[in-house]
Amino acid sequence: MISPIPLRDVPQANIFRKGDVFVLFGELFGRGYANGLINEAKKAGMTLIGITVGRRDENNALRALTDEELAIAEENLGGPIINVPLMAGFDLDAPAGSPTPTDLLGDMTLKSWQEDKLDWAHIEKCRAVGVARFKDSVAQVMRQLDGMIPDGSNAFFAHTMAGGIPKVKVFLAIANRIYKGRGERFMSSKALLDSDLGKLILMNFDEVTANTFQHLIDGSAAIRARLERTGGQVRYSAYGYHGTEILINGQYQWQTYTSYTQGQAKMRLERVAEAAWQQGIKATVYNCPEIRTNSSDIFVGVELSLFPLLKALIKENGGAWAQAQWQACDALLQEGNSLDVLLQKIEDYNTSEVMAGFRNFAAWPMANSLALADLMIGTSEEITQMHADKKELVTGHLSALILEGTGPLMFHEASNPAGPVLWLNHDVIAKQLNQLHNA
Ligand SMILES: NC(=O)c1ccc[n+]([C@@H]2O[C@H](COP(=O)([O-])OP(=O)(O)OC[C@H]3O[C@@H](n4cnc5c(N)ncnc54)[C@H](O)[C@@H]3O)[C@@H](O)[C@H]2O)c1
Repeated sequence: MISPIPLRDVPQANIFRKGDVFVLFGELFGRGYANGLINEAKKAGMTLIGITVGRRDENNALRALTDEELAIAEENLGGPIINVPLMAGFDLDAPAGSPTPTDLLGDMTLKSWQEDKLDWAHIEKCRAVGVARFKDSVAQVMRQLDGMIPDGSNAFFAHTMAGGIPKVKVFLAIANRIYKGRGERFMSSKALLDSDLGKLILMNFDEVTANTFQHLIDGSAAIRARLERTGGQVRYSAYGYHGTEILINGQYQWQTYTSYTQGQAKMRLERVAEAAWQQGIKATVYNCPEIRTNSSDIFVGVELSLFPLLKALIKENGGAWAQAQWQACDALLQEGNSLDVLLQKIEDYNTSEVMAGFRNFAAWPMANSLALADLMIGTSEEITQMHADKKELVTGHLSALILEGTGPLMFHEASNPAGPVLWLNHDVIAKQLNQLHNA
């Protein structure tokens, strides 16, 4: 990818209707991006079907959901869930009787991890076990799904999976320093990536965040062939991240959260879609803006790029509704603080030399630096302090708006997608939101 390919206009097409099937390939959480697409699928009258990643029992064995868990998940989705555990990654997989990668990492300490070495031949065996398990489970899911999607209907497969951080104590402490540490507590993400621990985590990110999309596309080949043979169409979407254009100095400019350690996996995800597209499969990765969700809350500062959305709402023909968003956000600040002051802080932050140095698309994903951590985490804390209630943040409101905007953009673009990798920047999201609310 030499430069981002933005979606500039709000798409209007729609091939999906009642009787068509929407399959969510990942679990649904309250603030998660998938809610945007689910809302559109419901509006179109589609049948919703979900999957589960399963749960771990007390011995870390993967299990299906209990009846009670299943009922809650189905209620939450608004449709049946195929109860075959689709947990991706190989951090807890190993050939029978041998240690899992998580077991191996368990021996690392905060003092030793940068020098500790892993047995890569063994790790490869664990990876093979994990991949075989996942592909086998996808095959089981697809057999059940096949009977649930009628001939001639359209199907929309929405991939949401991302993750892969192994659950080991030592990494919690390291992550706190890499993603939240400044001053004395700062740690460079490069130190992590140079270590065997980091290399293992990147391999696991590849499996969870990228390769699962390939397994979804491959595993649903028979369903795709049947639907296409009988007059239906099949679409695949995935959520990417590769920086976002936001308003800086009055112009839409590409910027990114740093250090985005999953970046390599997200570029691999893009390549999965590109390869599928070459074969005539309509698979698109939508690179989406930074928002606050269960998954992104660990990255302190990722939320700072949300604020200029307020300016984009005005710039893209915002009316009374856009003004109301300013007022709603302003009302979340402490008395004596104003949105204008806050937005000026963000402008100063984005136009600083430190941040400008990270707006290098070709070098993405860059490692962080002490100067970046000090500025980004410092600004994040300052802005949080400006709020009346630290649990009710402007970025919560803006995250919900972005999620709402991406839903119809992805849903309608999927009907007639322009390509395998598209960026949803603040401009088109603001246009979409204004259209929705000013109609
Ligand atoms: N939050 C952001 O700022 C942002 C920005 C751009 C793209 N995205 C992408 O959007 C997608 C949804 O993320 P979200 O931020 O809405 O958070 P989320 O927590 O709601 O979703 C994370 C998803 O990953 C799945 N998942 C996690 N670990 C898994 C594993 N080991 N195996 C299989 N599935 C696993 C979960 O079931 C869930 O569906 C992800 O692909 C994410 O990378 C997020």
